[in-house]
Amino acid sequence: MNYLLVYSSRFGYTHKIAQTLEAQWTAAGNTVHMVNLADAPVIQQDEYDKIIIGASIRYGHYAAALAPWIKRHQHILSNTPSAFFSVSILANKPHRSTPQTHTYTRKFFAKSPWQPQIIGIFAGELHYAKYNLLDRYMMRLVMKLNKGETCLNAHIEYTDWQKVREFGEQVQKLNT
Ligand SMILES: Cc1cc2nc3c(=O)[nH]c(=O)nc-3n(C[C@H](O)[C@H](O)[C@H](O)COP(=O)(O)O)c2cc1C
Repeated sequence: MNYLLVYSSRFGYTHKIAQTLEAQWTAAGNTVHMVNLADAPVIQQDEYDKIIIGASIRYGHYAAALAPWIKRHQHILSNTPSAFFSVSILANKPHRSTPQTHTYTRKFFAKSPWQPQIIGIFAGELHYAKYNLLDRYMMRLVMKLNKGETCLNAHIEYTDWQKVREFGEQVQKLNT
C-alpha cells in the first residue's frame, strides 16, 4: 500500500517518530512517502491509500500551517483512511495521554473539517540545550508548573515507543 506521512516538527523529534513509523510500515511491505508540512505538499485524490499526519505542540498550538493544509485537502483526507498523531511534553502525564484528555488535540479537532479515524497521543522530548534562551526559560517554567524536570542539562525522551508501535499497527489495520 501507498502511505503518505506528513510531519510537522520544530526540533526534529516528531520527524524522528515519523521515521520510526516509516520503518515499521516499510518493513511490512508498504511504500511510505514522507513529507514535511513546511514544504507545503500538494496531493491529489487517489494518490495514496492511507494518509497520516504527525505534528508537535509549541506553546499550546500545532504549527500555524497545519489547519490551512487540512482545510485545503479536507475532501481527500475525508475520503482516504487517515490517522493523526500529536507530540508534546505534557502528554507524558497519564491523565493527558488520550485523544479525549489531551486538550490541545481535542480542541483542534473540535474545529477541524477532518476527523481522523485514529489519533495517537505521544509524549515528546525535553532537550533544553536545543532551544534558544527565551524558549529554554519558557519551557523550564512550563516544566516547573507541571512539577517536571527543570535542570537545564536535561535531555529526556518521554516517548512510550510501544504506544507508537501500536499506533503503527492500528494504521496498518485501517480498512481501505
Ligand atoms: C518552545 C517550546 C514550547 C513548547 N510548548 C509546549 C506546550 O505548550 N505544551 C506541551 O505539552 N509541550 C510543549 N513543548 C514540548 C514539545 O512539544 C516537545 O519538545 C516535542 O518533542 C517537540 O517536537 P518537535 O521537535 O517535533 O517540534 C514545547 C517545546 C518547546 C521547545
